[in-house]
Amino acid sequence: MADTNPMRPVPLFAEHATRLARHSLPYRDPVARVNWDRLSHAMFWLPEAAVSLAGVREYDALPLATRQRLSHYEFAHFLDTGIWLEGLFLERLARSARQEGRAARIYQLHELREEAGHSLMFLEFLKRARLEAQWDYEEDRVLTVLGRRLPFGSTLFWGAILLGEEVPDRLNRYIRLHAQGICPVTVELSVLHSTDEARHIAYGREVLKRRLGATNALSRRLLAHTLKSLLARFVRAFYYPPASLYRAAGLPEGPWRARAAASADRHRFVAHCLAPTVTRLRALGLPLTFP
Ligand SMILES: [Fe+2]
Ligand SMILES: [Fe+2]
Repeated sequence: MADTNPMRPVPLFAEHATRLARHSLPYRDPVARVNWDRLSHAMFWLPEAAVSLAGVREYDALPLATRQRLSHYEFAHFLDTGIWLEGLFLERLARSARQEGRAARIYQLHELREEAGHSLMFLEFLKRARLEAQWDYEEDRVLTVLGRRLPFGSTLFWGAILLGEEVPDRLNRYIRLHAQGICPVTVELSVLHSTDEARHIAYGREVLKRRLGATNALSRRLLAHTLKSLLARFVRAFYYPPASLYRAAGLPEGPWRARAAASADRHRFVAHCLAPTVTRLRALGLPLTFP
């Protein structure tokens, strides 16, 4: 009989994990790979279309140096949010790897090493950019609690993991594709990160696919419904910076966060970034929509 409980862990798998683990070798520390000397404060750190206020009249009227500085803060916020999420995943992987079969355990240790490498690279960037703790960091408490409590290996856990990897990865990929004129160090970070994430996402998708194969249509609809609300939370965390960030970036007093939240250009940009994620989840049998 089909297993319809999305909370029940299922055993992970060997051959897929072994193949992905092979691609994690040889490992090179990303902190040592980045050419940090090319970090420049006189350039945009995000393609301007990826800045949260792009297209907002009051933002477009700001001087170039102010708009560039906002892109610095938004990229730093993007990294900071990544450190929060990777930290949660590191906790879960570290606690759970011992319960897995040998192949999955080896793969997960590779993923642990790679995620630790990303967070170290982000922290190094923030230190060199002199942008540590410049604004009030607002972590999403619901995602934090779920990240800590959901059973490892459950369908919902891996659905949430996949979203947590895809949502920032879509912005990294946008940066890769629109790298012209952008600070080369931010592009390098995005390239190094998304290269590893391709494996992490492939692994997460395979786990989810296998788990969904044993799930009936009603459970999939319920799961899609839950994932849709988690997706909105991940999007808010990564794509909509807190109000204090606009102040820290030196923008004149104004409702900048509300302007970003109300911006049709921003909605279109985020939907454009996330469209492939939604399509792939739908291909797995999850009737997900965004927004
Ligand atoms: Fe990562
Ligand atoms: Fe990852």
